[in-house]
Amino acid sequence: MNVPFLDLKANANSIKDEVMASWQEVLENTAYVLGPKVAAFEKAFAEAHDVKHCYGVSTGTDGNHLASLALNIGPGDELVVPANTFIATAWGATLVNATPVFVDCEPDSYNIDPAAIEAAITPRTKAIAVVHLYGQPANMDPILAICKKHGLGLIEDCAQSHLAEYKGKKVGGIGDIASFSFYPGKNLGAWGEGGAITTNNEELGRFVDMFRNQGQEKKYYHKVYGHNYRLEGLMGAVLLIKMKYIAGWTEARRKVAAYYDAQLSGIEELTLPTPMPYAKHVYHLYVVQTPKRDAMSAYLTEHGVGNGLHYPIPNHLQECFAHLGYKKGQFPVSEQLGANCLSLPIFPEMTEAQMAHVVKTVRGYFGA
Ligand SMILES: Cc1ncc(COP(=O)(O)O)c(C=O)c1O
Repeated sequence: MNVPFLDLKANANSIKDEVMASWQEVLENTAYVLGPKVAAFEKAFAEAHDVKHCYGVSTGTDGNHLASLALNIGPGDELVVPANTFIATAWGATLVNATPVFVDCEPDSYNIDPAAIEAAITPRTKAIAVVHLYGQPANMDPILAICKKHGLGLIEDCAQSHLAEYKGKKVGGIGDIASFSFYPGKNLGAWGEGGAITTNNEELGRFVDMFRNQGQEKKYYHKVYGHNYRLEGLMGAVLLIKMKYIAGWTEARRKVAAYYDAQLSGIEELTLPTPMPYAKHVYHLYVVQTPKRDAMSAYLTEHGVGNGLHYPIPNHLQECFAHLGYKKGQFPVSEQLGANCLSLPIFPEMTEAQMAHVVKTVRGYFGA
């Protein structure tokens, strides 16, 4: 039996007819860029995240750029970023000619370590970008307190955490501004590129709305510098339909995770994810750790179990940041995770047989 790491086709097939009918409407009204489908999606997405404003944008990376611009981060400024995240969080700094300042992650949540943030703050620090990585919210209360104490902005990178909750509150409206990705493999994925900004701050929202659309307040009246970061109508149509199912799909992911938790516990040399007491984890990824990672990955592949590495090289050791002078050994938790992490298949349409095959193969590898 083969279990893919992710089965986008199964997901697409489950809504294909609805999407085709909706795309027909888009073709008929020719609202190819922004338009009524995007507007309806923005409303539904904001409501689902208990946040006042949502603006569809072209990608999550562009969202991170926009979030930094909205908080007026620029040349000479520093943005605190976790060492353990996908690199696009750090582009939030580089795209505005600011400097990312990396911080290690916690050994249990794998999210930015609030206790390590203050040591990274300098007079140039403008904001903190937290990531709710793998679908689990970061520990926001101590981070909010640090932002308040030092007068810093707070960006949430929610690319992996649609509908995740921190102490019962949805992510996306906890900090000043948040960026989501709708890359196809995300928990909420478009059939192409997509992203969104959410915020409770009217002024920041207005800026985002203008900047994404050539800096326009109204057509040909360019109030601020801008760019073309608009979400396409066809993507808005897919995302709007998916909003009907996202809560159910999230529960399905959590069930797969609960099954793995139960069936894979107690294996020596295998560390399972730790759901934090304050978090509702939405399991974009199910990341385990083992010192035998490379051999385990090869074994899984050989036995038809898709797997991935998120992420093998922490940001501070990426070649593109060599000039920043970080050293190996500086962020031991992120570095250990880079060496030992392995992501198991997880997607809402997983069958019991697929889940059982993953478990059997993993247990077989460890002789458990
Ligand atoms: C944590 C994180 N931030 C940002 C991004 C960038 O999103 P996108 O691929 O839509 O540009 C991604 C996903 O790729 C991500 O995982």
